[in-house]
Amino acid sequence: MRDVTLQNIFEHHIAQKYLTRSGLAHAIAVAYHAFHLAKEENLDVDIAAKAGLLHDMGHFTWYRNGKWDYDLYRQNDIHAIKGAERAHKLLIRLGENPIRARTIALAILFHTDSFLPTNDIERTALQQIVKKADEKDEEEGGLHHYREIDLERARESIRRLDNLIDTEEAKELSS
Ligand SMILES: [Fe+2]
Repeated sequence: MRDVTLQNIFEHHIAQKYLTRSGLAHAIAVAYHAFHLAKEENLDVDIAAKAGLLHDMGHFTWYRNGKWDYDLYRQNDIHAIKGAERAHKLLIRLGENPIRARTIALAILFHTDSFLPTNDIERTALQQIVKKADEKDEEEGGLHHYREIDLERARESIRRLDNLIDTEEAKELSS
């Protein structure tokens, strides 16, 4: 039994606030990609899906004169740092195991190279998965942040992913 489900996370007002800001449809798509990649590689599907769902929680829209400003973004972006911190705080608040919360936070911290001085850091297998899952859903010009999904459909997708995770974990226990 997991201490915290995706549904628990999703229904929390902090998650609602930040996931809608960075794009709910993108967050859910990345959670699914991370789940499938983790399943293929025999890694922890629950940790992967949670990191995928929360990876852009620190996203900030760098606008100038009503338009996305990529220069501003590149100069100022720390969304991975903010996201890791916010996700960690939320997970601990919801009762997540601290070791798992830390693993998820670190996967969020390293999901992008954007704030790193070099891009040669060595990621764990799980950290690589979250980065790959994000890249799979990226659209040019940051459009993936603006894809829409209505709340009921989002809820249903989250419920389905929780069921997939539970099924994988049950298989794991019986093997
Ligand atoms: Fe992303």
